Amino acid sequence: MSEKSGFDAVFVGGGVIGLASAWRAAQRGARVLVLERAEPPAGATNVAAGMLAPVGELTFGRRELLDLALASAALWADFAAQVEASGGGATGFRRCGALHVALDRDEAGELRRRHDLQRELGLEAEWLTPTRCRELEPGLVPNFVGGVLAGSEGAVDPRALALALAAALREAGGELRTGTGVVDGLWDGERLAGVRTAPSALTRPSDELVQTLDVRADAVVLCNGAWSGQTAWLPEEARPPVRPVKGETVELRPREGEGAPASRIVCSERVYLVPRPDGRLIVGATQEERGFDTVVTAGGVHELLREAYRVLPDVAEMEFFGTIAGLRPGTPDNLPIVGRGAVEGLVLATGHFRNGILLTPLTAEAVAATLAGTASPAVIAEADPNRSSLVAHGAANDRRLPADRPLEASR
Ligand code: GLY
Repeated sequence: MSEKSGFDAVFVGGGVIGLASAWRAAQRGARVLVLERAEPPAGATNVAAGMLAPVGELTFGRRELLDLALASAALWADFAAQVEASGGGATGFRRCGALHVALDRDEAGELRRRHDLQRELGLEAEWLTPTRCRELEPGLVPNFVGGVLAGSEGAVDPRALALALAAALREAGGELRTGTGVVDGLWDGERLAGVRTAPSALTRPSDELVQTLDVRADAVVLCNGAWSGQTAWLPEEARPPVRPVKGETVELRPREGEGAPASRIVCSERVYLVPRPDGRLIVGATQEERGFDTVVTAGGVHELLREAYRVLPDVAEMEFFGTIAGLRPGTPDNLPIVGRGAVEGLVLATGHFRNGILLTPLTAEAVAATLAGTASPAVIAEADPNRSSLVAHGAANDRRLPADRPLEASR
């Protein structure tokens, strides 16, 4: 066994939440180490389509989530520019806008209801006729009922973002160890004082003699997404009430010399299509409660492609490049969990459910501020690990999964 000490914080999980939070902390002068059991882009980051869509992802009755989403959306342009300026390359960030279309009268009723709420809340969302929608996106199916343009929504390429963040982290003096799982906590009495890595971490040539590594740090940041609720080395009452929510996405590529069939994000009630700057199109996403199952199913792919074709028929001509399933970190109230945990030394940055990429800049600011002992952005109080809507679940810490539901494509 060997030991590494002197860190201000060790981050368990190297998705975009962990990488961005460690990067922001390193920029403030903290000595940080990120432990990732796979290779970035990992976990949900590797599967996410990268929509930055506070308006379109608006859910009824969740004002707190909207506040968090809008606050983070406002940080995105600057955040992306800073990551890119750190030498890690392009993130694919752009404010391309999103067009939500209603394919039939039922969908139009639902879209109208959502649009009324968007307007009531003062959000940028404009109802458009089908003709106007097709002027904006000529690849749309000829017959549909209407659409809503959310012009300020954007997108980023989460895989490119993860790689750029890893480079930015190193450039800021932070460390990243990949292929490194965590098997235990290190305790000074009741205070969490670091973590012990899995032996497999040390099969790498540079570490050949070491079995496990003890990493001592003033703070341990738990940012391992859907797995955070299963952190067996934490006492039960300190584990966040997070469960995995499966999602599948499909990647389509343009034929030689052609671009994507849309320049904006295009959504129906059952599918979203996110264009990348290089012409790729990401189709997402299923939403299922199936524990830690990440098998890509024929039914999931069929449903995504069928619904994509109903909106943008030209997808049929694109190259089917691949499909992947990942696990969103769901919480009982669908809000993230960011802040000090139930044991001293523990900081939580997890539970981002459908909004992990969007909420990355805000979460990173909040985690870096928590570690530095300075004020976090006020809105992050909505993600307080001790809020009543979590304590009700967290005290008992009942993370049994709801009964499996049939496949349900979700926009
Ligand atoms: N943000 C969309 C999703 O989780 O599918």
